[in-house]
Amino acid sequence: MQKDILDTSRLPQHIAFIIDGNGRWAKRRGLPRSMGHKSGMIRMKKTVTHAFDLGIHCVSVYCFSTENWNRPKEEVDYLFDLFRQYFEKEFEELFARGVRLQVMGDLSKIPLDVQESLRAAIERTKDNDKYVLNLAINYGGRNEIVRACNMAIDKGNHVDIPAFEKLLYTKDLPPLDLIIRSSGELRLSNFMLWQAAYAEFYFSNIMWPDFDDKQLDKALIDFQHRNRRFGAIKES
Ligand code: IPE
Ligand code: IPE
Ligand code: MG
Repeated sequence: MQKDILDTSRLPQHIAFIIDGNGRWAKRRGLPRSMGHKSGMIRMKKTVTHAFDLGIHCVSVYCFSTENWNRPKEEVDYLFDLFRQYFEKEFEELFARGVRLQVMGDLSKIPLDVQESLRAAIERTKDNDKYVLNLAINYGGRNEIVRACNMAIDKGNHVDIPAFEKLLYTKDLPPLDLIIRSSGELRLSNFMLWQAAYAEFYFSNIMWPDFDDKQLDKALIDFQHRNRRFGAIKES
């Protein structure tokens, strides 16, 4: 029998969200997709805040993939405008609690005003050391790996696994413990491919804008019942 109480003394250090289902959430309500994204960002801030309140040190969030450029321009523009609002204002409460903002992805391709507000937020929070919010923007796991390979080639040295990990965006972060994906899709969609090697996976049918604090607790309780063996033999 599984206990359904969250043990806050055994939390993962690093969790990651694939925040999926904003569009379908909106469609079911007869709303434009943009309203799904708006609700999704409100939810993201709340759920991430809950994770930090519980004591999870690092939260990664997939905000925009290298493949999401294939969406209509209006939707992409709307998303970047939303992100900018969060970097400039909405995340301020999180930053005041000691959250450091970090980003992974190729930022050179995103709108200039968003790049600027992002850099300002990263600068403002650089000395915060309690929590890390790591946002994946114009991020692809395959790109991250190819980029690291090219960096290694430029240095002219063979690399082993620890040396290679120092070339990834996540070099300063704890190992990834848990990946949570909403909306019922059972795939990674090019997210944290390297880091996922020994992460646990949790898939929920809930559309992201409805993924509330209770849903996160449920995912964490589920995680606490996993037997992470890392290839060895361990009794649960
Ligand atoms: C996830 O929701 C948010 C982003 C990809 C930015 P979607 O926009 O993918 O929502 P669905 O999957 O179409 O429902
Ligand atoms: C993954 O969701 C990307 C983000 C959550 C930002 P998608 O909705 O883009 O993934 P697919 O297309 O269903 O695989
Ligand atoms: Mg989707």
